[in-house]
Amino acid sequence: MTAASILDAENVSLAYAQPNGQSLCVLQDFSLHLAAGEIVALLGPSGVGKSSLLRVLGGLQHAASGTVRAYGEVLNGPHPRLSMVFQDACLLPWLSLEQNVAFGLDFKHQPVLSAPERKQRVAAAIAEVDLSAVRQRYPSELSGGMAQRTALARSLARQPEILLLDEPFSALDEVTRGEMQALLRSLCRRHHTAAILVTHDIDEALLLADRVLLIGGSPGRQVGSWNVTLAEPRASFVRELAQLRLEIVEALHSAHASAKASIA
Ligand SMILES: Nc1ncnc2c1ncn2[C@@H]1O[C@H](COP(=O)(O)OP(=O)(O)OP(=O)(O)O)[C@@H](O)[C@H]1O
Ligand SMILES: [Mg+2]
Repeated sequence: MTAASILDAENVSLAYAQPNGQSLCVLQDFSLHLAAGEIVALLGPSGVGKSSLLRVLGGLQHAASGTVRAYGEVLNGPHPRLSMVFQDACLLPWLSLEQNVAFGLDFKHQPVLSAPERKQRVAAAIAEVDLSAVRQRYPSELSGGMAQRTALARSLARQPEILLLDEPFSALDEVTRGEMQALLRSLCRRHHTAAILVTHDIDEALLLADRVLLIGGSPGRQVGSWNVTLAEPRASFVRELAQLRLEIVEALHSAHASAKASIA
């Protein structure tokens, strides 16, 4: 753990029981430290353990060994300052957009809010993602991008200091995805929210993250790390981005090759 880090995974190992009675070791001795306000992107081949790691970091799953600490305290379950956003917006179809956002405040481990504060938080979160005009609509009346923004608002209403996002924009079209990426980055910067973003999209990682980590191998471990220190707007640093992208693509190819070799 470093002085400034707010979320620390220390030597985390994770295993799943297999139908054949054997145990599949997914991650071994994995360590990660997240600083306040930092955005970290996690890349890696499919099945390497990114989602599993995110669930462990979010207190939704227990590690076989190792420790996860949030704000220095061992994490034994969901934490009120931590919020997760998944690939699927997971909205309840019988609740309006506004009610879905408010529902996030009823999750276990959330502090109980007064009615006016609750109302204010929900309205502010919906305004942040620019959906105030359609707050009465139901999920079936929302586009994929709107649904994903609603899911983000549901997390934001909880005023988290750490967002854990598992491929949140992968189902969206190119333009909407770009808008969501810009929105996420500006929200994180404005509220000094830290984030860990699992993605398969290297460009998304390079545009959003301060640090890109590559997980590879079987069991999974960190096989690459890049600091992205480009000024805004990043998209204007074409040559630097292309160089970083190339390095990451090469490392990802090696990680894929070693994952295949371990299956063979
Ligand atoms: N609940 C579970 N029970 C048994 N095995 C599981 C379970 N969840 C995941 N696994 C296995 O653990 C490994 C890692 O899965 P995980 O979903 O964490 O990978 P991932 O890196 O997120 O993959 P993807 O990029 O495809 O989303 C896979 O081999 C998967 O089959
Ligand atoms: Mg996954």
